[in-house]
Amino acid sequence: MTQDELKDAVAAAAIDEIRPHLYRDTVLGIGTGSTANCFIDRLAELRDDFKGAVASSEASAKRLQDHGIEVFELNSTGNVPFYIDGADEVNAHLHMIKGGGAALTREKIVAACSERFICIADASKRVARLGAFPLPVEVIPMARSYVARELVKLGADPVYRQGVVTDNGNQIIDCYDFMIDDPVAMEARLNAIVGVVTNGLFAARSADVLLLGGPNGVERLTPSE
Ligand code: A5P
Repeated sequence: MTQDELKDAVAAAAIDEIRPHLYRDTVLGIGTGSTANCFIDRLAELRDDFKGAVASSEASAKRLQDHGIEVFELNSTGNVPFYIDGADEVNAHLHMIKGGGAALTREKIVAACSERFICIADASKRVARLGAFPLPVEVIPMARSYVARELVKLGADPVYRQGVVTDNGNQIIDCYDFMIDDPVAMEARLNAIVGVVTNGLFAARSADVLLLGGPNGVERLTPSE
């Protein structure tokens, strides 16, 4: 199977996972990226079975609306029963690195408001230790150089993602050569740097379920102890 076919297979598995729990008043939390796009495209078939969605990016909001799915503001919905999104890396505890598409802050906000986080990913995203994928950090623009210097002190090689402005008007620094032994502690440590809006470690609020697509089909995994 190609990587695109694997992404579509996990999107289909996520549809199966949520379908029994959809009601006319259900609002779903929807992520960002190519795997989330596969999910959005499949969700279109069910558009009459639920109320709508909260999106983690302007791009996902547009894709949902183009399919006739109503998009709501998170402030008007309260918590959502499910958040469905991809990942750049995911470990056995279902801690993730996210933000390759620069949507990490809104993704983390919607994930925080979800009762169940379903991560959908092809097998290339599964790792023993997080960090080979450069960790994105969203920063307030005037703090970019200061934050970069602090990241160097922590052992990272920070690189400004040129030309990218997040949906929140901020900038992204990617941390290269930064393998992470304790994702929960590092997530908190990075968030404590003044000027950091969010970092791409999703460990304090990890996924509850991982639907992982590989050559032998889709595996359903839950966090290991
Ligand atoms: C977006 O900012 C990211 O967090 C995505 O969820 C992540 O990059 C996965 O994207 P793909 O599904 O395109 O690999």
